[in-house]
Amino acid sequence: MTPGLPMPVPAPGLPARVRIHEVGARDGLQNEQTVIPTEIKAEFVRRLAAAGLDTVEATSFVHPKWVPQLADAERLIPAVRDLAPEVRLPVLVPNERGLDRALTLGADRIAVFGSATESFAKANLNRTVDEALAMFAPVVARAKEAGAHVRGYLSMCFGDPWEGPVPVPQVVRVCRALLDQGCDELSLGDTIGVATPGHVTALLTALNEAGVATDVLGVHFHDTYGQALANTLAALQHGVTTVDASAGGLGGCPYAKSATGNLATEDLVWMLRGLGIETGVDLERLTATSVWMAERLGRPSPSRTVRALSASLGSPDSLDSHKE
Ligand code: HMG
Ligand code: MG
Repeated sequence: MTPGLPMPVPAPGLPARVRIHEVGARDGLQNEQTVIPTEIKAEFVRRLAAAGLDTVEATSFVHPKWVPQLADAERLIPAVRDLAPEVRLPVLVPNERGLDRALTLGADRIAVFGSATESFAKANLNRTVDEALAMFAPVVARAKEAGAHVRGYLSMCFGDPWEGPVPVPQVVRVCRALLDQGCDELSLGDTIGVATPGHVTALLTALNEAGVATDVLGVHFHDTYGQALANTLAALQHGVTTVDASAGGLGGCPYAKSATGNLATEDLVWMLRGLGIETGVDLERLTATSVWMAERLGRPSPSRTVRALSASLGSPDSLDSHKE
């Protein structure tokens, strides 16, 4: 065991391996005040892949006025395309215009992103929940025809900043609709980080009772109230094996007030490593990447693990050089 890394001690009833869906380059950078240059984004994606992350969500093909931070999608994808197919490079598309843009660049994994609540559907997509579903239907159908894998994100699965707690049946209905459209997997989003473990288990159980198998479900926690790891553990205990996380804890959502950083990938890997669960991720290399990115953003990473490891393993420079 490398000093400064946890001792693996397995706990009963947990999966042997977890697939981490890395969202830092998309969910993280979409929320930055400053627009990061395309070359830095491409380098970030490459460093994430080099740290062993095999699913690196790269960007979004949304309206550039809605998310100016990701307006360079047409330049970013060609700059990282060579990483595929070893590294999966999913991209977000809200509508057929976005799908056309993504398919032109050879995207083979796309994600639509719905909302369990009307308020967020309006704020994020300028649609009602059902209008958004209608917008996704041809996107999912055409993406499947083109042989692409389709992820369906669902935001506000636990609480909504305008509407408060979100009833479980309301979430289950939209999940079912996304799966019925042909989505291959779902990602259950706690966009504003208000979920707690019992609520996670209740939603997963209700989804199972509605005929949704656990193996098509991933979880996407934000760490606003420090609950993201506890919620992740509840999901793992339920049998979930896909967990979204963001390197260095970057992130939020520009259209949800009070959405702060995502679960940090390093914090997740620390826990999984301690539980003896395989992820394929080199934690030191990943930490070095987040330290490097934090320097470019001009502020320290909010991840506890990044802070602790960068203090115990050396200066940002020595961590950075660990990559080479
Ligand atoms: P709208 O204003 O209703 O758009 O926005 P529209 O359909 O009326 O079209 C208006 C114009 O935009 C048209 O141009 C379209 O061609 C153009 P015109 O004919 O007037 O010249 N247009 C586009 N241009 C480029 N790419 C496109 C595109 N679509 C339309 N894809 C729209 C509707 C969906 C476009 C807008 O609301 C939008 O882009 N929203 C994206 C918001 C977003 O990206 N939010 C963050 C991602 S979600 C998230 O972070 C949550 C998640 O992490 C999970 C969680 O934490 O919960 C996933
Ligand atoms: Mg998110």
